Amino acid sequence: MTTFSPAAQAVFDKTGIPPIGLGTSGRVGDDGAEAVLSAIEAGYRHIDTAQAYGSEAPIGMAIQRSGLQRDEFFLTTKVRDTHYPRPEFLASVERSLEFLGVEQVDLLLLHWPLTSGAVPFESYMEDLQAVKDRGWSRMIGVSNFSIDYLKRAEEFLGKGALTTNQIEIHPYLQNPKMTAYAKAADLTLTAYRPLAEGRVSTDPVLQDIANRHGTSPATVALAFLIAEGRIVIPASTNPQRLRDNLAAQTLELSEEEIRRMRRLDRGERFINPAKAPTWDD
Ligand SMILES: NC(=O)c1ccc[n+]([C@@H]2O[C@H](COP(=O)([O-])OP(=O)(O)OC[C@H]3O[C@@H](n4cnc5c(N)ncnc54)[C@H](OP(=O)(O)O)[C@@H]3O)[C@@H](O)[C@H]2O)c1
Repeated sequence: MTTFSPAAQAVFDKTGIPPIGLGTSGRVGDDGAEAVLSAIEAGYRHIDTAQAYGSEAPIGMAIQRSGLQRDEFFLTTKVRDTHYPRPEFLASVERSLEFLGVEQVDLLLLHWPLTSGAVPFESYMEDLQAVKDRGWSRMIGVSNFSIDYLKRAEEFLGKGALTTNQIEIHPYLQNPKMTAYAKAADLTLTAYRPLAEGRVSTDPVLQDIANRHGTSPATVALAFLIAEGRIVIPASTNPQRLRDNLAAQTLELSEEEIRRMRRLDRGERFINPAKAPTWDD
């Protein structure tokens, strides 16, 4: 039984989702399965994957090898945007379940809004809802949605239908406009690339706060995001860093430390492909 910090407990109580998930982009093949198994052994109970990562089958293998029961871990996957046309959407989700070796995931996300309009918005929204109605996922949500797209989704699916919007969030990209919208809509944000790809580990402010707590800057960065109400999904293949990252769920920060870290925001975005929507922040 994990003892969470009050902030981590609040995120868990609100969403039912372990506040730290394992990022698995790039965890492919046997090496990928071993890396995920090591993370499970280190205590990770929330795994984030996507059809686009090629890590679903290795995760299925790792789960099987771990001996964990289905109710002992939380699993998220995402539908790749090239799979949105019918009937491929639902067929792709069936394949995901097969790869993962489960009858139901906990959370299924749309990986990107389709800014090209190649598939009507209503079509992939209906299919997202169908995944929940068929019991293939307990909860549904989205990723990389701007406020405009979130409003359209909420209009279509109803208020409160979406559990999360998974977007790029780290100390250097804190998304103030999206944060205000999510707060008003009672929507939890999930932070991907939460360590700014490891860059947080050389930040002097984070290092200073880490020194006070006898921990690492990455742990502090993740604890900060959790204190701001986020779910975080850091990735690492290094056993010590995996443990450091998980330790964020027990680290308590002071109000003054949180205020210092809020000032690190500089709107720095790393993931911005041509298909991205117009970002709010
Ligand atoms: N929805 C989306 O569109 C989307 C987009 C991007 C990512 N994601 C998800 O978010 C996950 C995480 O994102 P990410 O991998 O891009 O970025 P990240 O978690 O911010 O950074 C990972 C990088 O940081 C290093 N690192 C990890 N822990 C560290 C620590 N404690 N100290 C110093 N360095 C550390 C890792 O190297 P080592 O492995 O050597 O430790 C790796 O190079 C992905 O795996 C994926 O699941 C989702």
